[in-house]
Order: sequence, then structure tokens, then C-alpha cells
Amino acid sequence: MRKFVSLRSLLLLLPFLLCLFARAEADTTSTTTSPMDERELDALYATIRSLVGKWFNGTELYPDPCGWTPIQGVSCDLFHGLWYVTTMVVGPIHDNSFQCAPDAEISPRLFRMKHLRSLSFFGCFHSPISIQGLPWEKLAHTLETIEFRSNPGLNGQMPPLFSASLRKLRSLVLLENNLTGELPIGFGNLTELEQLVLAGNRFTGRIPTTLGGGLTKLLIIDFSRNSLSGPLPPTIKGLTSLLKLDLSNNSFDGQLPLELGQLRNLTLLDLRNNRFVNGLPRTLEEMVSLEQALLSNNPIGGTLTNLNWQNLESLIALDLSHTGLVGEIPASMAGMKKLRFLALNDNHLSGNVPPNFGDMPCVVNALYLNGNDLAGELQFSDGFYGKLGRHFSVRGNPGLCYDAWAVAGENAPAGVKACQKGSPGIVANAGLRMEVIDEDAHQSCDRIGSCVVSGISGTGGFGFWWAIIMAELVTVFFLVFAAS
Ligand SMILES: *[C@@H]1O[C@H](CO)[C@@H](O)[C@H](O)[C@H]1NC(C)=O
Ligand SMILES: *[C@@H]1O[C@H](CO)[C@@H](O)[C@H](O)[C@H]1NC(C)=O
Ligand SMILES: *[C@@H]1O[C@H](CO)[C@@H](O)[C@H](O)[C@H]1NC(C)=O
Ligand SMILES: *[C@@H]1O[C@H](CO)[C@@H](O)[C@H](O)[C@H]1NC(C)=O
Ligand SMILES: *[C@@H]1O[C@H](CO)[C@@H](O)[C@H](O)[C@H]1NC(C)=O
Repeated sequence: MRKFVSLRSLLLLLPFLLCLFARAEADTTSTTTSPMDERELDALYATIRSLVGKWFNGTELYPDPCGWTPIQGVSCDLFHGLWYVTTMVVGPIHDNSFQCAPDAEISPRLFRMKHLRSLSFFGCFHSPISIQGLPWEKLAHTLETIEFRSNPGLNGQMPPLFSASLRKLRSLVLLENNLTGELPIGFGNLTELEQLVLAGNRFTGRIPTTLGGGLTKLLIIDFSRNSLSGPLPPTIKGLTSLLKLDLSNNSFDGQLPLELGQLRNLTLLDLRNNRFVNGLPRTLEEMVSLEQALLSNNPIGGTLTNLNWQNLESLIALDLSHTGLVGEIPASMAGMKKLRFLALNDNHLSGNVPPNFGDMPCVVNALYLNGNDLAGELQFSDGFYGKLGRHFSVRGNPGLCYDAWAVAGENAPAGVKACQKGSPGIVANAGLRMEVIDEDAHQSCDRIGSCVVSGISGTGGFGFWWAIIMAELVTVFFLVFAAS
């Protein structure tokens, strides 16, 4: 009996013993496989300790951080026979990521890392810290990516050195922190910059005119959700590669510069919720790549008639609601080949609704004309109303009416009265004619739709572009399905 017990406990212990053995073997074989510079190793341990707490003992927990005891979020590379940290991602991204301590801060020893290319802090700083006084210039020769995302305790100004000395920087993302102050004028020196995201902070002041100049590689600007003000500087025309310009939810004012039209590669222009005035720039029609023009909630004013809208051949979504527009809706707006979302609601537009909106090739998954002074008879077919459903709105235009003979009861546009008309026979024929046109329109829309889709999948190999395109498609769907 006694013998049996001890055999049994030996068997139970076996996996543990094997494990110990394996570990001892790993110990002896790998202590020499990933040698690190002492200073580099110390910098890494001190940095993590300053973030996660005093309990962290790197020597004990991660004796070989670039080898057999990897640290989640830390990657290394070999330089002249020694291993150096190249990437550090801090924050709850994976299950086994470190949690930042409530009093997390950044150790000055971080800046001793010799080959750090990418530094990222996500959801880490909750109690007040500033990164202004840190010696960022020491990373100037290596750092390509800086990201501070969702750190409500990150206060103070953006370190001026971010812009003045980090010449290799390709991506600067300071998203949803508590940063204040004005934007540094040194951005013009960041000639490698591709992505500049400062959204969701408390930045104030104007866009520096140095933002333009040499930033010919810049693809993305997102300054949305800050308290920035002043006009959009004409130097913006220097950003010739720009794909995405998001300045929404700020206090920008002044007239939109004519130079905007020179951004020929821009696909997204989001200026919603600002104070831009003095009409739409006529050069808007030159932005041939533009897919989304979102300008709602600005006192822009002026008319729609001074633009050749059909030139905007790529435009998918146009939001000009709440922009103080007057005058008529030009028929050329129906010439935008890819348009799927058009919001002109809550303006002072007058005159008739152009009947050719019903003939548009891809038209329009959503058409909002409510809250204007439009008048006369709506000339759309029963099929048009049926297709758009609640994504067609014309209510709040007291002078409008629809043809009750040509439209089935359930398709009648909401909030519009039926026209007072004569002979039903003639009207029914007119309805039939519209139906036929609408069917043709559906077919050509399908052709264009499939060519859009194949164009997108063609670029799928390049993740960055893919992400941009997907983000834009999501916005379009959001606009179409949520805005009614
Ligand atoms: C970490 O642990 C080692 C050995 O257990 C000890 O010698 C060292 O002082 C500790 N380091 C810190 C910073 O506590
Ligand atoms: C964010 O900044 C404001 C003003 O600059 C300050 O009052 C507030 O306490 C800051 N929030 C945090 C979490 O530090
Ligand atoms: C930009 O770089 C130039 C020289 O390369 C320098 O003289 C200038 O001070 C820099 N600008 C800023 C704002 O740091
Ligand atoms: C604009 O886009 C086209 C096509 O994608 C590209 O060939 C061209 O280089 C871009 N222009 C600039 C200035 O980046
Ligand atoms: C932008 O501002 C509008 C109007 O003030 C507000 O309704 C909207 O929620 C804001 N959007 C974001 C993302 O903060």
C-alpha cells in the first residue's frame, strides 16, 4: 500500500519534473543566444517598471527579453551582434499585456534605447502626466511612429520637439488624450510624415501655415474633435498626396480657400460642425478623387449653382445639410455618376426638385431635401419612392406636392400633400414612362457598382490603403443608414 502511494505521487510529479528539466536545459542553451547591451537592458526594465509599478523586477521575470523570455508588446532586432528594442507597445491589447499602474509615468531611461522605431501607449495614463519635458530629441535618429491613444491623464502641450526634431517620423497619432495648447509650427520639418492624427484632444489656436510646405508624403490629417479655430491656410495646397482631411467638430471659420481644389488625390473632406462662411469654393469641382464631401453644420451660405457638379465623378456622399444654402438645386447635381448619399436638408433652397434625380445611374440610396422652401410637383416614379423608402425625405417643404395617381399609397412620400390634379389617365401614363427610365438606371448602376467593388479589391494587398478604404465605406454606410 505504501509503495503504491509513492509510485502514484511520483507519476503525478512527472510532468512537473520534466518541465523543470526542460527549463534548466533552456536556461543553459539560451542565455547566450540574445545578448543585449547592458544599458539597453536597463533602459527596458526601468521603462516597464515606471509604467507597471515597483513590483516589476525585469532581471527575475524576463532575464532574456529579446530571446526566450519575450515581453508582450516588445520586439527586438539585431545590430552588430547585440539585440536592441525596436518596438514598444504598452496597453491592454492582448490578454497577457501589462496593465499600467494608476501612477504610471515614463522613465527618462526610455530615451537611452538606441534603435527604438515605434512607441505606442494605449489606455495607459489615467492620472495626470505630461510628456513635454522629456528628451525626445534623443530618439530623433530612429523614431518613426509615435502613438498615444486613449490616455485621459495625458495633459499639457504637445512637446515642440515632436515636430522640430523627429525627422524620421512617419506617423504621429495623439488620439483621444487630454492634450492642450497650440499646434507647434515645426510640422513643416517632418518631411517623412504620412499620418498626422490629433483628434479628440483640447488643442486650440490656428493651423500653422508651415503645415503644407514640404509635407508631400502626408496622406492623412485628422484634427477632428478639438477646439481649433481660424481659417484653413492656403498653404494646404502643398499637401499634394493627401487622401483624407478631417477637421470636423472644431471652431474653424473664414472662407474655404480656393487652393483646396488643388488636392487632387483627396478622397475624404470632412469639415462638419465648424463655422466656415462665404460660400462653397468654385474649385471644389476640381477635386476629382473626392468620394466624400461632408460639410454639414457650417454657416457657409451661398448657392449650389456656381459649380459644375457633374465634374465630381468619384463623389459617393455629399452632405451639405444645415449650411445656409439659398437658390435652386441645379440639375447638374444629378450628373454625379457615383453619388449614393445626398443631404441638402435644412437649408433655404427654393424652386423645383430636379426630376432627373430619378434617372441618376447609381442613385442614390439616400436623398434628404427636407426643411427647405422647395415647391411644385415631385416628378418621381412609384419605383423611386419604393426603392428609397425612409431614406427619401422632403417633409418640411410646404410648397411641395406629389402625384397621388402615379404613386401607390404605401410609397407616398411622408409629410407631403398630394397635388390637386385633373385627368387621371394622362397622369398614369406619365408614371409608366418614369418607371421605364428607372429600370434602365438600375442596370447601369449595377455595372458601375461592380466596377467600384473590383477596383477596391484590386488594392487589397496593401493593408494601409485597404484600411483607409474600409473606413470610408463604413462612413458611407453609416451616413446612409443612420442619418434619416
Ligand atoms: C530583482 O531581483 C534580483 C534577484 O532576485 C535582485 O538581486 C534585484 O535587486 C532585484 N531588483 C530590483 C530592482 O528589485
Ligand atoms: C484634462 O484637462 C483639463 C484642463 O486642461 C483638466 O481640468 C482635467 O483635470 C484634465 N483631466 C485629467 C483626467 O487629467
Ligand atoms: C526646421 O529645420 C530647419 C533646418 O533644417 C531649422 O533651421 C528650423 O529651425 C526648423 N524649424 C523648426 C520649427 O524647428
Ligand atoms: C495621386 O494618386 C495617383 C494615383 O493613385 C498617384 O499616381 C499620384 O502619384 C498621386 N499624386 C501625388 C502627388 O501623390
Ligand atoms: C460633433 O459635434 C456635433 C454637434 O455639436 C455632435 O452632435 C457630435 O456628437 C460631435 N461628434 C463627435 C464624434 O464628437
